[in-house]
Amino acid sequence: MLVWEDSYRIGNEEMDSEHLILFAILNQISINIDADMAASCLNEVLGALEAYISYHFAHEEALMRAWGYPGLESHSESHRRFIEDVARMRSAALVSSGHEAAMRLRFFVLDWLLNHILETDADYASFIAAKAGNQ
Ligand SMILES: [Fe+2]
Ligand SMILES: [Fe+2]
Repeated sequence: MLVWEDSYRIGNEEMDSEHLILFAILNQISINIDADMAASCLNEVLGALEAYISYHFAHEEALMRAWGYPGLESHSESHRRFIEDVARMRSAALVSSGHEAAMRLRFFVLDWLLNHILETDADYASFIAAKAGNQ
């Protein structure tokens, strides 16, 4: 079970709650893997993960655009690459219907997400906070 920690907050309430939901979906994947769920269940929960990731990224990119964040391009590029990697790994997990592949995907997503939140997302959050403070 992944435990969300306060230190993962970037200070934007809306984005923090979306990150929290991503953690919840990752926990759901672990539950499915632990319970040795059928591949169809795994497929469903991996689909939910991809859908929420796309939703969150689009939301975040719109926010950065609205605030004129200068790092928007490279941030969006990192989102795009991640979505491609997840899609590739999801196909692999489903072809083998392997829980091991699903577990690898879960670790990959968690690792990427934590690094991304703590560095890349934290950067636009402090940019926005500084800009909002100057208004
Ligand atoms: Fe991001
Ligand atoms: Fe994010």
